[in-house]
Amino acid sequence: MSTERGSMKVVLHVVGARPNFMKIAPILRVADAEPGWDNVLIHTGQHYDEGMSSAFFRDLGIRAPDESLGVGSGSHANQTARVMVEMERVILERKADLVVVVGDVNSTLAAALAAAKLGVKVAHVEAGLRSHDRSMPEELNRLLTDQLADFCLTPSRDADANLLREGILRERIFFVGNIMIDSLLVVIKHARTLSLATDLGLVRGEYVLATIHRPSNVDDRAQLEEILGALRVISNSHPVILPMHPRTRERVTGFGLETGSIRVMEPIGYVESLHLQDGAAVVITDSGGLQEETTVLGVPCVTLRDSTERPVTVTEGTNELVPVRNTQQIVNAFGRAISKVRSPRRPEGWDGRTAERIVQILKNSID
Ligand code: UD1
Repeated sequence: MSTERGSMKVVLHVVGARPNFMKIAPILRVADAEPGWDNVLIHTGQHYDEGMSSAFFRDLGIRAPDESLGVGSGSHANQTARVMVEMERVILERKADLVVVVGDVNSTLAAALAAAKLGVKVAHVEAGLRSHDRSMPEELNRLLTDQLADFCLTPSRDADANLLREGILRERIFFVGNIMIDSLLVVIKHARTLSLATDLGLVRGEYVLATIHRPSNVDDRAQLEEILGALRVISNSHPVILPMHPRTRERVTGFGLETGSIRVMEPIGYVESLHLQDGAAVVITDSGGLQEETTVLGVPCVTLRDSTERPVTVTEGTNELVPVRNTQQIVNAFGRAISKVRSPRRPEGWDGRTAERIVQILKNSID
């Protein structure tokens, strides 16, 4: 047993926040089938609510974490530091050979930094995305994680170009495609069988799904007021469903803003999100993942941001960027989006086989 175990590679897979879960699910599924790998799933606890975390484990069929670090909420420095301290301990205790991190949240950078400082190899899934806006915490996490990673696993060719421009060696860059789409393609059939939209009295193709949670949109009172103003205007002609992120709810309440006829809900799970996106006339969002999912589903998407780290969704997909300046601009963008014909797109490598490519590359490199 000990010799067998001795030849096993210990691979730590790290998740922390809501957008990480659909990225790790397909990787873990393929990795768990790898006979030479001892896979350890680590949940940092950055997100901890039922609706922000457990619901996603259930929806995506992810097994229970082997380690729960329970770091919870806090300032950026605090949260990042606590993940680093806990990760250092786990990496040493488990004698890790490789740490896999996904996306761009605080847990991603913290785990990568703890591993790199211990000389343990790091693989970053969704490497190379850049909004070129350093006021976004995620942009800092992306830049730094890619500098630390031994394997920069990219979802699109623009990401490869970004990394090369930053001086990252070509031999560290691997184009693998979009891991989000692996999960989407597994779950979409089930998502289409849900009755949620009908239960909410919504008609397919006639309602709007909105999600807003970026600090730049919700922490600024004037900005949030413009967005809610636009959603209220749109809700005069089309029902607007707004599952509300805890950060947004705190701000709406704190600023004393009106949601009026917007239909505010608790955060929804992954299957519900795909179900409501698939049936929507238009999606209005500031999420990264929804920009990609709407492209594959063919649903017009209005993204309330100045920039996107996912330009393929604009050049090849259904996405339009709309900087939040005033209510009317958002309403006008909605008007353009609603008149578009639904047309699903699959950019290169968005084919549901990204996890297989990732495990193949990592296997060849660490064995
Ligand atoms: C984080 C990610 C962001 C991602 C988003 C998805 C970073 C820097 N940002 O932002 O990229 O798009 O997750 O949701 O990592 N809260 C709860 N329950 C929870 C989690 C959070 O109530 O389960 C509340 C807390 O009050 C917390 C606030 O939400 O202070 C923000 O949470 P945090 O993890 O700091 O960042 P997000 O805004 O969720």
